[in-house]
Amino acid sequence: MENVSVSFDRQPVLQDVNLSIDKDEFLAIIGPNGGGKSTLLKVILGLIKADQGRISVFGKKPGDPSNPIGYLPQYVSFDPDFPINVFDTVLSGRYHGLFKNYSDEDREKVVNALEEVGMLNMRHRQMSRLSGGQKQRVFIARAIVRDPKLLLLDEPMASIDPKMQESFYELLAQFRKRMAIVLVSHDVGAVSTHVESIACLNQKLYYHGSVEESAEGLEKVYECPIGYISHGLPHRILKDH
Ligand SMILES: Nc1ncnc2c1ncn2[C@@H]1O[C@H](COP(=O)(O)OP(=O)(O)OP(=O)(O)O)[C@@H](O)[C@H]1O
Ligand SMILES: [Mg+2]
Repeated sequence: MENVSVSFDRQPVLQDVNLSIDKDEFLAIIGPNGGGKSTLLKVILGLIKADQGRISVFGKKPGDPSNPIGYLPQYVSFDPDFPINVFDTVLSGRYHGLFKNYSDEDREKVVNALEEVGMLNMRHRQMSRLSGGQKQRVFIARAIVRDPKLLLLDEPMASIDPKMQESFYELLAQFRKRMAIVLVSHDVGAVSTHVESIACLNQKLYYHGSVEESAEGLEKVYECPIGYISHGLPHRILKDH
């Protein structure tokens, strides 16, 4: 992205954003509520058009159907009473268009994806009978079922408890061997120990590269003092507000 700006009703949401994502990068984008994180992902996906700037995704325009992107939206719109099971939910990620049936290969990919997220044993279960964290795993399986080269995760930790977060990051470490990952979160502490690079977004984007050096940028973005973020131990120190 070069100098990308987006506004809604003349209110700027993204201003002059410059960002490039390496093919094996694990980038966390953090920032306060309303800072433009979800908007940024939607711009990459071509769901929202930028008012200004240049964007190239795998050398193509955002929204090009051949762009190999997996996406976990922040809010998956989902009717809790709709009778669909785990397997078919993930299979829907292989949708090829109306009147085209799913192939054996599609089903095999679904099995692999469910296995990878640890939900294969629940493949016949109705979605309405899963916990929030289990549903999240199914939606992640759906996001990777097309073998993306870039995985965009919008607040994936929202319904995952601290104990499960560790295994979730282990899962992401697996994915990372074959795709770039961009993880969006407003929770600074949750991302700091696992990701490789970090960017702070509050209309403007500050790209920091390595996580250790980010404290100063975080203060700018959150407008509150943050002392230190460490790689090794999940710990953060907030000075007095
Ligand atoms: N379709 C839209 N029309 C008008 N305003 C919008 C639209 N989508 C987002 N906005 C506004 O743009 C700003 C950024 O929204 P965005 O959802 O990108 O923030 P975010 O960083 O993802 O926030 P959160 O942490 O709460 O998810 C907000 O002020 C929001 O109200
Ligand atoms: Mg958001």
